[in-house]
Amino acid sequence: MTATNFISITEAMKRGRGKVAVRGWIYRERGSNKMKFLVLRDSSDIIQCVLDRVKFEKQWDEIDKLKVESSVEIFGEIKEDKRAPTGFEIICDKINIIQIAEDFPINKDLNEELLGDRRHLWLRSRKMTAILKIRSSVFAAIHEYFRKNGFYEYQSPIFQSVQCEGGSSLFHVDYFGKKDVFLAQTWQLYAEPAIFALEKIYTIAPSFRAEESKTSRHLTEYWHAEMEVAWANFKDIQDYGEALIKHIVKKVLDENKADLEILERDIKKLQPCIKKSFPRMTYNESLKILKEKAKIKISWGKDLRTIEEDALSKLYDTPIIVTEYPKEVKAFYMKETQGNSKVVNGCDFIVPDGYGEIIGGSEREADPDKIKKRLIEMGEKPEQYSFYLDTRKYGSVPHGGFGMGVERVISWICGLDTIKDAIAFPRTMNRTKP
Ligand code: 4AD
Ligand code: MG
Repeated sequence: MTATNFISITEAMKRGRGKVAVRGWIYRERGSNKMKFLVLRDSSDIIQCVLDRVKFEKQWDEIDKLKVESSVEIFGEIKEDKRAPTGFEIICDKINIIQIAEDFPINKDLNEELLGDRRHLWLRSRKMTAILKIRSSVFAAIHEYFRKNGFYEYQSPIFQSVQCEGGSSLFHVDYFGKKDVFLAQTWQLYAEPAIFALEKIYTIAPSFRAEESKTSRHLTEYWHAEMEVAWANFKDIQDYGEALIKHIVKKVLDENKADLEILERDIKKLQPCIKKSFPRMTYNESLKILKEKAKIKISWGKDLRTIEEDALSKLYDTPIIVTEYPKEVKAFYMKETQGNSKVVNGCDFIVPDGYGEIIGGSEREADPDKIKKRLIEMGEKPEQYSFYLDTRKYGSVPHGGFGMGVERVISWICGLDTIKDAIAFPRTMNRTKP
């Protein structure tokens, strides 16, 4: 017996005629006691399959029981049919029923909460399938970009003993009774030591934030693409971030057109990001622009909040880069801007359409005394950071890096209502199940 050559639905439609064998799950079904129309779904697409009772008299009872999500193998003749959902149909001459599904517990009327409970089943929806394919392209693009540009992939620990992005969003772990162990907020403090070995490094790894915010932008567990580079100045860091985002968007536009269509994403909103340079402005300039063009007044020293970021990004059709924030609103490791000790060489990339900050980065402070001083101001014990401070003692070099929230990027590219749909099993303040 020879094994059947099953092909994907996309491949079958590419052939457009002749005998094909496909397999998958029933996406929709309807019929009469003479005919059955099954719309079959696989990872590639959907296609209508037609079963005529005359050919299937012996199997008809079983065929009649087929419900949505039942798994089947279909053999038949494919042909073009303008009326069919994807323009083709298969006239079936054999069907193998693999499993008759129970009533599928997902329908249009489910609210977000119930859909969340059934996330393991909702993953197979066309929407989630399209998003997960785009997610896969985004990950591939990140690896491609960094590897093409001479970066080594490097890994840092997830159990950490120091904070980096503020104590309030740390997840404390009960580590054999020890208290001062946390889940990683970032790889940064463990990445900086490695640039003295590898110079240019990157990672994609989970980061954890105990953020008590139920917004459309926050997860407690997210995938963090981070990079760190020796000998880099502040402008280099921004250039890398801009080129990375352009590379990701270009790849998704090249490879995921059909998926973006399923999501009804207007790709005209993404195209400028590839073609135009991202406007760069200092925090001071951003306050001026907000005041003049959006009639929003912010007193100097305050961080840009979501509403201000949204108002600002609305004025542009590409991501923008805001630089030189007041020291007080940024992390302890950011380098003081030359000639202005009130601000630091930190940058945020803010994307259009209200998706907010997707990259946070900076040039790193080289002076260990300045770092210590800021740690003390934050109520931290510098001794605990001695391993980090060592990096400034033995051949310190100018360097910097950034972190990009991968789900934020996916959310923006896909035009999602919530970041929760940018990951298969979102973790938020209210959800750790399934
Ligand atoms: O701006 P953040 O806090 O920067 C850092 O962690 C730096 N140590 C990175 C570095 O320089 N290596 O976080 C970086 C990015 C943000 O711009 C945002 O895109 C994402 O991480 N992010 C989140 N994404 C989803 N849910 C959350 N709760 C997030 N918090 C931050
Ligand atoms: Mg940030």
